Order: sequence, then C-alpha cells, then structure tokens
Amino acid sequence: MEVQPCLSAPCRYDDCKETADWLLARTKQRPKVAIICGSGLGGLADLVEDKIVFPYKDIPRFPTSTVEGHAGQLVFGKLQDRECVCMQGRFHYYEGYSLHTVTYPVRVFFLLGVETLIVTNAAGGLNGNYNVGDVMVIKDHINLPGFCGQSPLVGCNDDRFGVRFLCMSDAYDRNLRALAIQTAHEQKCGSFLREGVYCMVCGPTYETIAECNLLQKLGADAVGMSTVPEVVAARHCGMRVLGLSLITNKAVTDYESNEKANHEEVLATTRLRTQELQRLVRHLVKKI
Ligand code: HPA
Repeated sequence: MEVQPCLSAPCRYDDCKETADWLLARTKQRPKVAIICGSGLGGLADLVEDKIVFPYKDIPRFPTSTVEGHAGQLVFGKLQDRECVCMQGRFHYYEGYSLHTVTYPVRVFFLLGVETLIVTNAAGGLNGNYNVGDVMVIKDHINLPGFCGQSPLVGCNDDRFGVRFLCMSDAYDRNLRALAIQTAHEQKCGSFLREGVYCMVCGPTYETIAECNLLQKLGADAVGMSTVPEVVAARHCGMRVLGLSLITNKAVTDYESNEKANHEEVLATTRLRTQELQRLVRHLVKKI
C-alpha cells in the first residue's frame, strides 16, 4: 500500500526519538515520573539528588526557553529516592512556539519511559473563594485555544504516540488527585488546598474584566497560559497526569477594583509558597 504523504504539521516522532536516545545514552537513570516546573517553581528541581543536568541548548532538537523565571534545563535525579526528570522552564505558546514545539518535551518523556506527568503552573484565581497562595489540584480543564483550532494533536496523527481521537473526560487521574489531597493533609498543606477547573488562555496579556467574568461563567476556577497542551500530549501518549496550580493573584472581576495582574506579583507569590509546594510534590512523588 502506498503511504500517504503528510500534508499537515509534522509529528516528528523521529526527532523525539533522536532526543530521547541522546539523553538515554548520557544517563543511567530511567525515570517513570516527569515534573514540569511552572513560573517561579523551578526550585523543585533544585531538591533533586544525584543530579544530572542538561541545559536545553545542549540537547539535540530541544527548544530553548525565553521567559524570566524559567531556567531552561532538564534535571534528572532522585526525589525521595524516586528517579524523576524535571523540566526547569517550560515552553509557552505566547512565546511564539507552535503547540508541537510546546509539547515536544512531553513526547520525549514518553520515549524515555515516563509513565506519570506532574505539571505545575502559576494561575490567576477566578473562584471567589480562592486566596492568593492557594494550591489547586486540577480536576479538569477548559482548552480555550482548542476551541479555536489550536491543539498539539492537529495535523497527521502518529499512532506510535497515540490515537487520532482522544478521550479527555479522564484527563486528570482520579487516584493521583486523591493521593495529592491526602498528601497535602499529611504535610499540613490542607488549609490552602483546593480542587478545581483550570482554563488555558493564550496570553501573554492578562485577562480583561469582561474575560474574567466570562471564564467564571464557563465554570473555570483558575486561569493560566500553559499546561493544557502538555496535558493533551501526555494523555495522547497514555501517561497519567496530575496538575497543580499555584494561585498567584486574584483575577479582577469588578470595574471598581484598582488591582492589576502583573508578572512581579506572580513571581512574588510563588516565592512565598515555594517551600510548601516543594514539600507536597516531594512527598507525593514518593507515593507514586
Ligand atoms: N491570568 C493568566 N495567567 C496567569 C495569571 C492570570 O491572572 N496569573 C498567573 N498566570
């Protein structure tokens, strides 16, 4: 049978394989858990022991990151004796990368043998009961860019990664969510733990008041500019996913308010909560 040429964006399986093989040849570690560290949350990777660090710029075919607060390296090592690989610095759609590029590392993780992906991010709180500094276990998401045709799965499907039409009703693993909540209580993080729906917007602008009101009505508890593409790609490859959002600011929903979302506030809040979040993830990884 004649193979049909791929007329759409390339799936790049061979590129991902080349990257994965390059990494596998340079470390004996075979992590089953990968962690994507969000804005200002790269400190998680600093806790890793027996580290082997690969700056993105040294990894063949790997993209490089441009945002302040994102270091740009893969860190292999052990958290509480569990082998894991951390992405210190992720790629955002608003930086100008295609969603194929944004999700490239996730597909590399899959080819490394990773089975569980933990994604962290900074997010604006839309739920009126949320406080700055809360940690939200992501129960579900709204893929707003997906509504407009922006998905990492657009283009020819490579069955070696996953199926053409992917079910997303079980995107965030129920057992991992329960484990996160249980661990949060054990680690005295229960008082600021939430569970809710994350909505992805493209950014880089923060939302207008009208947009925040709309997202609230759609059922979103938190809003951010990342995570969803990586989760889609991870589910496509059959990985289990846990998502944690640190609520760094309250989305402004009132025209009388003088509050303004800004990147400095986002980074300042992540610095405040970084210790607790790191403790939570460390103890969680041990149980996975
Ligand atoms: N909106 C979008 N992304 C964000 C926010 C926000 O309010 N805070 C942190 N990331």
